[in-house]
Amino acid sequence: MGRSSKDKRDIYYRLAKEEGWRARSAFKLLQLDEEFRLFKGVCRAVDLCAAPGSWSQVLSRKLKGDEGKGTEVKIVAVDLQAMAPLPAVTQIQGDITKVSTAQEIIRHFEGQPADLVVCDGAPDVTGLHDVDEYIQAQLLLAALNITTHVLKPGGTFVAKIFRGKDVTLLYSQLKIFFSGVTCAKPRSSRNSSIEAFVVCQGYTPPEGYVPNMSNPLLDHCYDVDFNQLEGPNRVIVPFLACGDLSAYDSDRTYPLQLDPNKAYQYLPPTQPPIQPPYQKACLLRKHNLLAKENLSASSTPEPSACQEQGLSPHQDVSTNQEQAETA
Ligand SMILES: C[S@@+](CC[C@H](N)C(=O)[O-])C[C@H]1O[C@@H](n2cnc3c(N)ncnc32)[C@H](O)[C@@H]1O
Repeated sequence: MGRSSKDKRDIYYRLAKEEGWRARSAFKLLQLDEEFRLFKGVCRAVDLCAAPGSWSQVLSRKLKGDEGKGTEVKIVAVDLQAMAPLPAVTQIQGDITKVSTAQEIIRHFEGQPADLVVCDGAPDVTGLHDVDEYIQAQLLLAALNITTHVLKPGGTFVAKIFRGKDVTLLYSQLKIFFSGVTCAKPRSSRNSSIEAFVVCQGYTPPEGYVPNMSNPLLDHCYDVDFNQLEGPNRVIVPFLACGDLSAYDSDRTYPLQLDPNKAYQYLPPTQPPIQPPYQKACLLRKHNLLAKENLSASSTPEPSACQEQGLSPHQDVSTNQEQAETA
């Protein structure tokens, strides 16, 4: 694929580079904010699963930008992967499903709870949809668990969600903690993807609830179809297409020259990942060491770009694709 073909195919990838965002995901948070005014009055925020850091960039620019708030702003960003530094962002490299990581985050907010927690966590997809959806749900619940320790009453939690078959259970669990839960789909999230975002507003834990990291929210012994839940157990949350609806359509291909008065110019990505997990595979592939020696080229079909990256075509894998592009 030529360097400019990705620019042509993915308008948000290209705009991200033009505007200096580390990933196209930045537009998802910006468009969610257009709809929900997420950053209003926010000084302290947590960005879970933050690498390569475009959501942290958005938080840093938006929160620090408000007059006189600069010094009070506190942003804690967490990811398994290392991330290049950002102004006003404290970084923790760790797994959000681990109690030790959660405890480290909680320590940063002792005495001063967070106003906003966001989580754009995505697993390394296996291609087995049920497994991917399950792992995604676990990430969301780990994020919710951490949130119950650090979020102030009335605060907001935003998280990526896969609208898979058990999504109703997740909505029900979120409704226990928040007065308002909406499933939102920003314009920059492809319609072809099952990805969406839950925007949970008005944090109100149930009376007597004591946050406890050793008490996972999703127990492992259910075997019913949660979409059969009835009565008060079945929560149907509103679904909202959000962001300015005249914004670019992330499923469309756009010409390279968008503005007739401005010539197209290729721009490199704003911040290549520091040590991406696919780096070794790229190196092996470059030296033709990925194929097994005893298999002839004719008997080994060329893998698709998705397969090479271990990606499932049903998901919005923009960030992974961007990273592969920069490798
Ligand atoms: C879609 S990317 C996040 C993009 C980010 N919001 C941005 O705008 O740059 C998903 C991230 O989730 C992280 N992740 C997945 N599982 C995780 C876990 N258990 N703990 C911490 N981070 C995790 C991955 O390392 C990856 O960087």
